[in-house]
Amino acid sequence: MDVRIRPAVHADAAPLLDLKRLLDQESRFMLLEPDERTASVEEVASELHAMSAAPNCTVLVAEPAGKLVGYVEANGGRFRRNRVPADVVIGVAAAASGGVGSALMAGLVRWTGGAGLRRLELTVMTHNRRARRLYKGAGFVEEGR
Ligand SMILES: CC(C)(COP(=O)(O)OP(=O)(O)OC[C@H]1O[C@@H](n2cnc3c(N)ncnc32)[C@H](O)[C@@H]1OP(=O)(O)O)[C@@H](O)C(=O)NCCC(=O)NCCS
Repeated sequence: MDVRIRPAVHADAAPLLDLKRLLDQESRFMLLEPDERTASVEEVASELHAMSAAPNCTVLVAEPAGKLVGYVEANGGRFRRNRVPADVVIGVAAAASGGVGSALMAGLVRWTGGAGLRRLELTVMTHNRRARRLYKGAGFVEEGR
């Protein structure tokens, strides 16, 4: 699949929220249960704005054929001692799964180098084999179980 990976912009707030709601329904591997995602489009837009202004944060979206089907975000801390590492969250709609996750991760790794970050972190359930395979391919190393 030909997938365009790009930074999220203000206009992505509504489709990104829709995508996150879909992922909440589709997967128990995401953090929130469906009724726990209470943020409004305005709140998502304001979060996107804050993240795009922070040098150690980003949200990238995957957009084959003009539709958001996946996203990855990296969140570095606000203080000098937690500026690095950035925490990573990724989700791809089930219907689009298959290569999109790898494309998002490749985009994130490129961004990481440009942002001068040396370390990304994430946690993953041991039985989430697909995600673990994706992370290993992107260069993540298991540090604990
Ligand atoms: C995990 C997720 C981001 C992967 O996206 P994706 O588009 O399927 O990713 P890719 O196809 O690029 O890579 C997945 C890899 O796992 C492999 N894979 C697929 N199903 C697998 C399975 N059941 N067991 C092991 N590996 C599997 C794929 O072959 C691929 O590896 P390869 O590139 O070496 O062939 C996506 O499935 C998702 O959002 N899942 C639900 C939410 C989630 O789990 N988020 C992560 C929480 S930590």
